[in-house]
Amino acid sequence: MKPGAWSAAVGAALVLLLLGGGVGCGAPGIEPVEPPRGPFPPPPPTGLELYRPTPPDNPLTPERVALGRRLFFDPIVSRDGSLSCAGCHVPELGFSDTLRVSAGVEGRLGTRTTPTLLNRAYGRAFFWDGRGAELEEAVVGAIGDPAELDLGLEALVGRLASDESYRRAFTRAFPGEDDPVSGSGVARALASYVRTLVSGDAPADRYRIGENGALSEKALEGRRVFQGRARCGVCHAGPNFTDEEFHNTGVAVRSGDPGRYVVTGRDEDRGRFRTPTLREVALTAPYMHDGSVATLEEVVRFYDEGGEPNPNLTPDLRPLALTPGEREALVAFLQALSGTIREGAH
Ligand code: HEC
Ligand code: HEC
Repeated sequence: MKPGAWSAAVGAALVLLLLGGGVGCGAPGIEPVEPPRGPFPPPPPTGLELYRPTPPDNPLTPERVALGRRLFFDPIVSRDGSLSCAGCHVPELGFSDTLRVSAGVEGRLGTRTTPTLLNRAYGRAFFWDGRGAELEEAVVGAIGDPAELDLGLEALVGRLASDESYRRAFTRAFPGEDDPVSGSGVARALASYVRTLVSGDAPADRYRIGENGALSEKALEGRRVFQGRARCGVCHAGPNFTDEEFHNTGVAVRSGDPGRYVVTGRDEDRGRFRTPTLREVALTAPYMHDGSVATLEEVVRFYDEGGEPNPNLTPDLRPLALTPGEREALVAFLQALSGTIREGAH
C-alpha cells in the first residue's frame, strides 16, 4: 500500500472509531452518570506524558466531567437554542470545524477560525492571542460573545436552575456547595470536560517509543526535515507540538488581526499568535488564526517561502528551499500526528 493510502486508511479507521466509540456513545445527559469503566482519570495516551494541571477548586471528578459533557452538547447554551459548543468544536473534526472563521447564532461570523480543543488541558494561555489565563475562563467566553452563543452566563444559569434534572446534576458535581447551579459551576464543569479531550498514540509516538515500522519511509523523512532543516520543532516543540508561546509568522499581514498586541499593548506583539498544537492537524483544516490556509500542502509552501514578510516577522522563519520530495515528506509527517482521540470519563 502507498504511504498516502495507508494514512487515509488510518484516518477512515479513526473516524469509524470515533463514531462507534467514545464520541458517539449514548446521548449526553442521560441520567444517572455512568461510572467510569476504567481508572479515573484515564491514563494519558502514549506520547502525552505531560503533567495535567487542575486548579485547587476544580479537581477532575467523573460527575463534573459528565455535567460538562452534557452542557457541551446542549444548545441550551445559545440564545435561540440553535447552537451548542459542539456545533463549532465538532468531535469528528478534532473539536474544530471546517469554516474559515466561526459562525455563531443566526450565522453571525467571527473573525478567527475555531481552534481544536484537543490537549488544551496542557495549555498555559487560551485563545489565539492568549488572553484567557485559565481554562475555566476560556470555556465560558463563547456564551456571552454576540458572534458566538450570545446568551450570557447569568441567563444560562437562570435556564439551568429552572431545570430539575440539571439542578440534580449540579448538586452531584458540586456537593456541599451552597449554590451549586452557578456561573462558576458551569465554568468548572465545562473546563473539566475539556480537560478530558486528548489525542496521542499517533504513528509518530509509536515510532518514538521504538516501534520502527510505525512511520512510513516518507513520514520518517518528514520527521527529519521537521526537526532538522525546516526547524519546525523550534516552536512546535515537546509532546504536544507547541511551545505555548507567541510568534509572528506573517499570517496577520493578510488578516489585519493585531493578535497578542491586544493583550499586552506592546508594539512587538503585533501579529503574534499562539503556536497551535499539530496533533490531529489532518482533521482541523482550514489552518491559521484566520483560516486562510486551506491544506497542509499550502501550509508547507507558506513556511518554505519563509512566512509572510513584515516588520515583526520572527527571525526563526526564513526561506527553506525545500525540494518537492521534502515538502511531501513534511505533509506525510504532519498526517502521522493523528492518533487516538479520547473524550469524557473513559
Ligand atoms: C461560534 C462558534 C463557537 C462556539 C459555539 C464555541 N466556540 Fe469555543 N472557540 C471558537 C473560536 C473562534 C475560538 C477562538 C477565539 C479566539 O482565539 O479569539 C474558540 C476558543 C475556545 C477555547 C480556547 C481554545 C484555545 O486554543 O486556547 C475554548 C476552551 C473553547 N473555545 C471552548 C468552548 C466551549 C466550552 C463552548 C461552549 C460553551 C464553545 N467554545 C463554543 C468558536 C466557538
Ligand atoms: C517561529 C515559530 C514557528 C515555526 C518555526 C513554525 N511554526 Fe507552525 N505555527 C506557528 C504559529 C505561531 C502558528 C499560528 C500562526 C497564525 O495563526 O497566525 C503556526 C501554525 C501552524 C500550522 C496550522 C495549525 C492550525 O491548527 O491552524 C501548521 C500546520 C504548522 N504551523 C506547521 C508548521 C511546520 C510544518 C513548520 C516547519 C516547516 C512550522 N509550522 C514552523 C509557529 C511556528
